[in-house]
Amino acid sequence: MEPFDIFLVCAPGLEAPLADEARALGLAPGLGVGGVTVTGGWPDVWRCNLHLRCAARVLVRIGSFRVMHIAQLDKRARKFPFSDILRKDLPVRVEASCQKSRIYHDKAAKQRVEGALVAQGFTLAEDAPVTLKTRIEDDLCTFSLDTTGEPLHKRGHKLQVGKAPLRENLAAAFLRQCGFDGSEALVDPMCGSGTFVIEAAEIAAGLAPGRDRAFAFENLGSFDPAQWAALKSGKTEQPTLRFFGSDRDDGAIRSATANAERAGVSGFTRFTRAAISDLMPPDTPPGLVMVNPPYGARIGQRKLLFALYGSLGKVLVDRFKGWRVGIVTSDAGLAKATGLRFRPPLPPVQNGGLRIALYRTDPLR
Ligand SMILES: C[S@@+](CC[C@H](N)C(=O)[O-])C[C@H]1O[C@@H](n2cnc3c(N)ncnc32)[C@H](O)[C@@H]1O
Repeated sequence: MEPFDIFLVCAPGLEAPLADEARALGLAPGLGVGGVTVTGGWPDVWRCNLHLRCAARVLVRIGSFRVMHIAQLDKRARKFPFSDILRKDLPVRVEASCQKSRIYHDKAAKQRVEGALVAQGFTLAEDAPVTLKTRIEDDLCTFSLDTTGEPLHKRGHKLQVGKAPLRENLAAAFLRQCGFDGSEALVDPMCGSGTFVIEAAEIAAGLAPGRDRAFAFENLGSFDPAQWAALKSGKTEQPTLRFFGSDRDDGAIRSATANAERAGVSGFTRFTRAAISDLMPPDTPPGLVMVNPPYGARIGQRKLLFALYGSLGKVLVDRFKGWRVGIVTSDAGLAKATGLRFRPPLPPVQNGGLRIALYRTDPLR
């Protein structure tokens, strides 16, 4: 069946940094909404899952056909060569969604596809290791396989999180949008569970984000364990100590330290308990300050947040000459309260229930 279409899913707004990453893997991405399409074979699917930091999951398009009514879906799905890809000894889970189509009932569509799979000798389970996604749009039914399983932001290292952790794939995309490539120092003065610092350190060390986790594609007939092991044995480096996190909360520092340990980057990251008012630049050439201050608080607390953003901006201007700054927040008014001069805005991105955006400066003067 190779080559085939591979859809790299990301949070809407992050298509451009994801496309850059795909290009760096030697693929030719086409921008979509909420993702990027590339063409490739199974080794490309494994590489994308292993290396892409900005993606949420990797889907393989396995076929499509037109459907005007539910009986037709039933008939065509029964004829679909699922056994070319799925293994009969493992159960499968079906998801279905319908949009702008004569078939409009998600549940009915799901049942028909499940019936077709059972008729072909497959078993079903809601906790199956492999998910078949059925999307009916404009009367076109497309089957895709989710090759990822647990979403890609779950790298398997950040087991301890605080109240409002940033998803790793968003953090990676924001670092990329600030021009971070691993060769400079990074400071996060409100580091929480350490997401920015750990992502930055991994990028510098050449550690693949998916190196320590399992993927759904390991349960497909196309999986080749020897090739996969070879892909995972890429070269890594031991950078100098230049990735620093601080937070005023003791628990955050404990979590970040443990997360960095699990990720294998504790040799070149350092986490210290400190409030913004005590922040000093490390003894490195200027690099990037990346920070995700508290936001989304109730009305009464907004005044305090204005003061916090104000002092953050002042500390950075006074002490971090030559450093670039990236601030991630849901509130444009709070970003403005830093008094920093930002470059033109980027599209906002959904993180949990909130729309957040990255505000970037040039090197501070
Ligand atoms: C939104 S969270 C950061 C989450 C982090 N990006 C992560 O992925 O886990 C904001 C953090 O700012 C810290 N914080 C709030 N006020 C602070 C201050 N004045 N000085 C230092 N840290 C502060 C909080 O303790 C919290 O961990």
